[in-house]
Amino acid sequence: MRVVDVFRGTFGAEPEGVWHAPGRVNLIGEHTDYNDGFVLPFAVPWGVTAAVSPRQDGVVRLRSLQAGEPLTFESLDEAEGWARYVVGVFWALREAGHPVRGADLVVDGDVPQGAGLSSSAALEVVTGTALNDLYGLGLSKMEVALAAQRAENDFVGMPCGIMDQAASALAEEGKALFMDCRSLGTRNIPFDLAQHGLQLLIINTGVRHELADGQYARRRQDCENAAKHLGVASLRDVTDLAGALGRLSGDERRRAQHVVTENHRVEALIGLLRAGAVREIGALLNASHLSLRDQFEVSCPELDVAVEASLRGRARGARMTGGGFGGSAIALVADEHVQAVRDSVTGAYAERGWAAPGIYPATPAAGARRLA
Ligand code: GLA
Repeated sequence: MRVVDVFRGTFGAEPEGVWHAPGRVNLIGEHTDYNDGFVLPFAVPWGVTAAVSPRQDGVVRLRSLQAGEPLTFESLDEAEGWARYVVGVFWALREAGHPVRGADLVVDGDVPQGAGLSSSAALEVVTGTALNDLYGLGLSKMEVALAAQRAENDFVGMPCGIMDQAASALAEEGKALFMDCRSLGTRNIPFDLAQHGLQLLIINTGVRHELADGQYARRRQDCENAAKHLGVASLRDVTDLAGALGRLSGDERRRAQHVVTENHRVEALIGLLRAGAVREIGALLNASHLSLRDQFEVSCPELDVAVEASLRGRARGARMTGGGFGGSAIALVADEHVQAVRDSVTGAYAERGWAAPGIYPATPAAGARRLA
């Protein structure tokens, strides 16, 4: 394994172990996690592999195969950029009172660039999973995910929900992960595309619009304001949508409409999966996209074009996935139409003079685990 060779070359010793954590794609349930709602992501076949040894002192030495020279942090505050996703997990675990000292790490990631497939969650979760094992912390997978989220919220400074880290930590091969983000209850739901003659294509726009982070925080705030106006703990608790919409206006009204209906779409989609009606979930994907575009206002031209061109190529359904403002769209496509969808999307991008998007089929992969 490359991480092991580089670990040896960099630190002059064998690593104590090797771990892997995947990125994720979300099938449905977007911008619902921080509203105590429902999500249905699955792990993608790409992620981060890490060779790690613990250290007796508190020092963290870190090297990425994608980022050049090894870095040494005597104190956690020294970390910058991508290293904060790793070091933040040490911080979060120590903050929670766990006896985590230092470590030497070499990480290798293969999540496609700019795809919005949560390479940062994979980096956090691989770190948390390795430290949990190496320091015998006895944390559950969900506790590792929560520590990773804490790192991202309070050390990196991105106010994300729990979806990405939970998907990376708890996903199972061949299954999608249903999660109630209030109770943190999860269920792995079989999602076998091949059996139904289907593929799920990830269409990587390759763009990430500058406003992504600021807009994410604003959406979160809109949702909290709407919940406050309605006198509920979170938008999850809205049962009478029509009544609620009558009491809200402007952005708050639109955000609430998206979140409440998106939760219903997650439940409806799970109902279809349970019934074995995988081919019928497309309409829900389409509705989710329109709601994210028009009510939640987190799409962008590159995502809309990917979705529209997929449908013209006879995809059964398509939507943006993840936080929005770039990243990836997904399209559910019958085997016989895969080429038409690829051609349609590639053609639509070329017509506009945009760089060709990456298009890759994804099947649900396993969550974080020790490899060696
Ligand atoms: C980002 C966040 C997640 C979630 C999605 C939107 O990926 O990290 O917590 O909120 O956006 O569904």
